Amino acid sequence: MKTTRIAIIGFGVIGRGFAEVLLRKKKYLRELGVDLRVVAICEVDGSLVNEGGINLEEALKGGSGKKRDWTPLKAVDVIKKHKPDIVLELTPGNIKNGEPGLGHIITALSNGINVVTSNKAPLALQFYELMNLARKNNVVLGFEATVGGAMPVINLYQSTLRINRIRSIYGILNGTSNFVLSKMEEEAISLDDAVKEAQELGIAESNPGYDIDGIDTAAKVTILANSLMNKRVSFKDIKIKGIREITPKAIELARKHGYSIKLIGDIKNLEVSPRLVVKGDPLDVSGSLNAIMLDTDIAGEITIVGRGAGAIETASSLLSDVLEIAR
Ligand SMILES: NC(=O)c1ccc[n+]([C@@H]2O[C@H](COP(=O)([O-])OP(=O)(O)OC[C@H]3O[C@@H](n4cnc5c(N)ncnc54)[C@H](OP(=O)(O)O)[C@@H]3O)[C@@H](O)[C@H]2O)c1
Repeated sequence: MKTTRIAIIGFGVIGRGFAEVLLRKKKYLRELGVDLRVVAICEVDGSLVNEGGINLEEALKGGSGKKRDWTPLKAVDVIKKHKPDIVLELTPGNIKNGEPGLGHIITALSNGINVVTSNKAPLALQFYELMNLARKNNVVLGFEATVGGAMPVINLYQSTLRINRIRSIYGILNGTSNFVLSKMEEEAISLDDAVKEAQELGIAESNPGYDIDGIDTAAKVTILANSLMNKRVSFKDIKIKGIREITPKAIELARKHGYSIKLIGDIKNLEVSPRLVVKGDPLDVSGSLNAIMLDTDIAGEITIVGRGAGAIETASSLLSDVLEIAR
């Protein structure tokens, strides 16, 4: 059985979720004939490195293995020195410059190493440059997890729907803002109170600006526009309006007329804005769900609904890209 050596960069919510899923699916992966070995976990201040395979149970507990295998090497040094087969880039993305993920991805691809990432910012800023770099170095850049968490949008299109031309794609691409709008409607509360509730439940971050102001949705719109509609655009090309100005009164008025207000990412028109969605429409999903509608020339309309975030759910998309490379 061929071993695929993986370096995880960023061991936060998603990194740990990936490690947990690897442990859960150990037997299944063996049955598939795939041996995935995590040889490095890189954090801000250094890395755990073990070419024999890091004990993930211990790593998840932050246990004794950490001292034994700990090195002050930063992620870029680990990539260059240990040359894993796959770099899993899972750091937080800065939408202004794409760092630190952009540097990690460029280093890996330039060194002939495959990359799988859930980090939107580098791709939203430099999609074509990164794809070209991957092609030039004959490696894969897998990014299914950057859009819609567990929802299989990109791989679904690139495998099963390949023959179709997409006429339009739009949908709810941010679970936090959808949760906030749903709560405002269900409980007739203000945006601030709904955001507070989302924060208490761990659905919104302490600074929810990226979600509420439509930044996160716009990054995903950029990635989908490039990967599925061949649009050659960057984050700055997206017109963005978030949900900060939505009032309980507006929501109530919409409800009375048979509509919900949703934050919609419109890939064809490169736009993010709150829009009215008819009650009962496939896109009328509530809570933190995501939903995306593809209108294609042969298969017609296809709607995908799923969990757009979460450690375990996002690991499903990461693992699908990793398996594709490993096999
Ligand atoms: N959470 C979700 O549901 C979800 C879903 C889809 C996509 N994503 C994306 O996936 C990525 C990871 O998200 P997350 O929720 O796991 O974030 P997170 O919990 O903040 O974890 C990120 C980790 O990366 C580490 N890190 C930061 N800079 C680093 C560097 N230069 N080198 C190595 N490690 C570094 C952080 O360390 P410190 O804590 O010490 O700074 C932290 O451990 C983000 O880009 C996010 O947008 C998240």
